[in-house]
Amino acid sequence: MNDAPPSVNVLSQKFQDIRETGIYLHIPFCTRICPYCPYNKEIFREEACLKYVNAVIKEIDNYIPVLKNIPVTSFYIGGGTPTTMLNKGIETIINHIYKYLDMRCHIHMESHPNHLTVENLKIIESIGVKYLSIGVEALQDHHLKALKRPYTVSEVMKNIERAVSRNFNCVNVDFIFDLPGQTESEIEQAGTRIVKLGVQQAATYPLFRFPYTSLGKEFHKSKNMIDTMFRRRRFLKILEEIFYGSGYDRSSVWAFTKKGIDKYCSVTVPLYLGLGASGSSYLRDIFYVNTFSVGEYIKAVYQGKSPVSLSVTLSEEMQMSGWLYWRMYETRFMKSDFFRRFNMSFDDKYGSFIEFLNRIGYLKNGNDQVNLTDKGAYWIHAFEDFFSIDYINKLWGTSIQNPWPGKVALVAG
Ligand SMILES: C[S@@+](CC[C@H](N)C(=O)[O-])C[C@H]1O[C@@H](n2cnc3c(N)ncnc32)[C@H](O)[C@@H]1O
Ligand code: SF4
Repeated sequence: MNDAPPSVNVLSQKFQDIRETGIYLHIPFCTRICPYCPYNKEIFREEACLKYVNAVIKEIDNYIPVLKNIPVTSFYIGGGTPTTMLNKGIETIINHIYKYLDMRCHIHMESHPNHLTVENLKIIESIGVKYLSIGVEALQDHHLKALKRPYTVSEVMKNIERAVSRNFNCVNVDFIFDLPGQTESEIEQAGTRIVKLGVQQAATYPLFRFPYTSLGKEFHKSKNMIDTMFRRRRFLKILEEIFYGSGYDRSSVWAFTKKGIDKYCSVTVPLYLGLGASGSSYLRDIFYVNTFSVGEYIKAVYQGKSPVSLSVTLSEEMQMSGWLYWRMYETRFMKSDFFRRFNMSFDDKYGSFIEFLNRIGYLKNGNDQVNLTDKGAYWIHAFEDFFSIDYINKLWGTSIQNPWPGKVALVAG
């Protein structure tokens, strides 16, 4: 990845044939840093936060001329921890976005469980968040301690119950499994506790070990990949049984959503703009990422320079593979959507590959709809992960170390 950042002219051209877009806003602050976390974040400081608010507003202003007539149909605020900025300027950014852009959606936002007091939940609702995610991570005290999470099981359960009792369309909890030493009965206990909390959705990720995180460094060398993959499959199967038996459907490889509920998820449309430090944007044939450094992001935007630190032009082939990757992640898709997007028959492009996956029981290949089976959802994604975790590790690892990497080689050689 080392193309020049896209100019306003290039962006204007791109937006001419884009019918709708999503927005991703990155909040790069946390109250403390967890040892397993790969995301771009730093410790919250009031001074940096205030400057960040002004910089994000300037970045939005730069996009207004190209965006003003494009409906924004999906808005996601992620982090870091967005709730560190309640009453610290997040409201100003959101108001600015709703005032100047054609917003046609509610907000999906991540939160830290310790921030979910009654007062903060009221603020969260008042800024337009209808889909709230809470990082619970574990539901046994010794695992919470090992992950250095600053709460106990009983504290976190009370905070989640408080959020569930409000009027959100969907409350999601993020739960991490395959923690060091975790047993099947602990997974079962945690899954049952999640269901009892009454949350509308649970996203249950295996612990991804990124070598540039402190926990990842400890584990990266020693683990046997094949054992890990089969163990995770067993753990996920326990969770599948609990959630399916309690009225939830699978809504992505890792997530289970109550039947009839609109799922919580990151940007829901295929094209999106990323705002803030490490915000990434995907506009058909171009993918670009802002600098990860909060200080450099603020400096660049204040000086009227582009905050984009890496950019790549994507061939049609890469766009199609990317499309298929994300549809497989969602575990179901329509072939006609592929035709609408690329003006090419899905079966002409991927028919024999999909038929092969159908024959081995990884998916059900309908006339238009394709549905991954539970087995397929896990193993296809496990295979994709071989590549994607390595890409993310290179892209994020390099960008965290170097605010302006200039170039990142994603493939060895
Ligand atoms: C941005 S955080 C969520 C909000 C908030 N910062 C918090 O920690 O509660 C996103 C979520 O990603 C998940 N996550 C972070 N690092 C992970 C890892 N190494 N493996 C699996 N999931 C991870 C966690 O469940 C975490 O809650
Ligand atoms: S898991 Fe959440 S709180 Fe912990 S460092 Fe990552 S973003 Fe921050």
